[in-house]
Amino acid sequence: MSRIAYVNGLYTPLRDASVHVEDRGFQFADGVYEVCEIFGGKIIDETRHLARLKRSLAELSIRMPVKEGALKVILRETVRRNRVRNGLVYFQVTRGSARRDFVFPAADTPPTLVVIARPVDRTKVEAGAAAGISVITVPDNRWERVDIKTTGLLPNSLARQKAKLQGAREAWFFDEDGYVTEGAASNAWIVTKENTLVTRPAESGILRGITRTTLIDLAKRDNFIVSERPFTVAEAKAAREAFITAATAVITPVVKIDDTVLGDGKPGTLAIKLRAHFHSVAEHST
Ligand code: PDD
Repeated sequence: MSRIAYVNGLYTPLRDASVHVEDRGFQFADGVYEVCEIFGGKIIDETRHLARLKRSLAELSIRMPVKEGALKVILRETVRRNRVRNGLVYFQVTRGSARRDFVFPAADTPPTLVVIARPVDRTKVEAGAAAGISVITVPDNRWERVDIKTTGLLPNSLARQKAKLQGAREAWFFDEDGYVTEGAASNAWIVTKENTLVTRPAESGILRGITRTTLIDLAKRDNFIVSERPFTVAEAKAAREAFITAATAVITPVVKIDDTVLGDGKPGTLAIKLRAHFHSVAEHST
C-alpha cells in the first residue's frame, strides 16, 4: 500500500508530495509542527496538541492554515488513508512560500500545511521499552524559544546523531549550571528514592510536552507526587529511576546515562507502571 500525504488541500502519494522550493519552512525553518500518537486508530491528546499548535503559531504570527474543525478532519483522513492503527501523525505549518526575504511575506500569503501518518510496530516498541534506553548528555546549545515547537531542529538532530554514534537512543541537554533541560525530542524525568517524580518546570528551557502534561494528570489521579524542579545530570545518575516522555515514546525507561548504569540496569518499576496506565488517562479522539 502506498503512503499518502496531505499537502495544501490535496491527498497525494507520498513519493509525489512536495512543497515549493521557496517555502519558508525550507529556507528559514519558519514553521511549526506537532506529532500525535495514534493508538488503536485514535489520535491521542488531540485537544492539547491542537492547543499547542495554535500557541506556537501565535508566538510566530503565523495564521492557522485551515479552521480547527477542518484540520481535525484532515488528520483523521490522513490516518485513515494510510490505514494507521498504531503509529504517528505528523503535521506541519509554515509561513508559506514567497521570494526569499528575511522579512515576512505579505499577510495574505497562504501558510503551507503538510500532514503525514505512518504506522509503528507496537511489538517492537514495547520490546524496546521493556529493555530501557541509554541516553548521553550534551550541552544545550539551542535558542531561548524552545517553548515553541518549531521545525528548527538542527541542534536536536545533531544531538540525536551523536547519541546514535555512541549507542544511545536519546541525548539529554544540560544548561550552563549542569541542570538537565530536556531530551533532543522528549522530556526528561527522574524518580527519587522517595518515589517523587521530578521534571524540569516548563516555564523555561523546555518544550511543554503533551505527554508530560498528561503524565502529571495520571500522577495526580494515582496519588504520586510530582515535583516540577530542575535536576542536575549528577542527580539523575544517582536517581532510583529515569525515563523520557514524548508522543513517539509515551513513557520510556532510561537505564543508562553516559557511562552510568542506573540501579540494577533494568527499567524502573514506576516508569513501567506509568507507561501501562498512560492511555487510561490520555484523551482518545472520537
Ligand atoms: N518531539 N521536547 C522536545 C524537544 C521534543 O521534540 C518533544 C517531542 C518533546 C515531548 O513532547 P510531546 O510529549 O508533546 O511529544 C519534548 C516530537 C515527538 C518529535 O519531534 O518527533
